[in-house]
Amino acid sequence: MKVLVATEKPFAAVAVEGIRKETEAAGNELVLLEKYTEKSQLLAAVAEADALIIRSDKVDAEVLEAGKNLKIVVRAGAGFDNVDLAAATAHGVVVENTPGQNSNAVAELVFGMLVFGVRNFFNGKAGTELMGKRLGILAFGNVGRNVARIAKGFGMEVSAYDAFCPADVIEAAGVKAAKNQDELFETCDIVSLHIPATPETKKSINYALVGKMKKGGIVVNTARKEVIDEEGLLKLMQEREDIKYLTDIMPDAHAEFAKLEGRYFSTPKKMGAQTQEANINAGIAAARQITAFFKEGCTKFQVNK
Ligand code: 3PG
Repeated sequence: MKVLVATEKPFAAVAVEGIRKETEAAGNELVLLEKYTEKSQLLAAVAEADALIIRSDKVDAEVLEAGKNLKIVVRAGAGFDNVDLAAATAHGVVVENTPGQNSNAVAELVFGMLVFGVRNFFNGKAGTELMGKRLGILAFGNVGRNVARIAKGFGMEVSAYDAFCPADVIEAAGVKAAKNQDELFETCDIVSLHIPATPETKKSINYALVGKMKKGGIVVNTARKEVIDEEGLLKLMQEREDIKYLTDIMPDAHAEFAKLEGRYFSTPKKMGAQTQEANINAGIAAARQITAFFKEGCTKFQVNK
């Protein structure tokens, strides 16, 4: 079987070696397509592949159509909004993710961005500390739980809200459960977003919701740009000069946000999962899941059931 690793933003070399080892030990062949710049390169490479490992790479109906031999796509990471699940199902292709494998890396970046943000982007002026501030975690999944753990090390008060996780589970982790999203934004100094991009969450972080934050509120986004109502957030930040937005996913309206000097920061490329450890964890998990799929028909992590 041919296993194609197609990554516009490549894994660390050490992770690719691990993926190769796992793939070859299972008697399969590894094909690498890294740093591709045109969709046509992906279409050509996928034509020969039985299995595909991707990151945020887009797998749409055209890619699935081109992958005549394709049986499985594994998104090495958590979010699978980059894969057309309905088209995959229509083509009889199993889609999986590797939940939890890169969550510590994303959680650590939240604090990197926060320290940078509360210290005024290191411009020399006195900033503030994280200790004693209340951090709100929106969605208490793998990343949210790691964010809570690290926040306690900083001496922060921690609240969370998750539409799918009961309050007693959140409280059992030593975190205050907010009644709803509104309460989380109203009561926290900083809100960190960990919701997936779904029809329900898209543009849900909007003018009214962020407008509930107290003076000096900070929103940090290591989730997806699509969950932000960019127009609404921009309008709010133009009206309220105390609000800061720190993001690991550059907004479409980056140029407009960038005018809000000292209150906006975006990484140039999504960096949350970009550590050697996360690449090794997610990449090798993906390769192992493909081995298990071909050997035993295992579909434990299938997301298009
Ligand atoms: C994820 O959904 O796992 C993260 O957003 C990581 O995405 P990346 O693999 O493109 O860095």
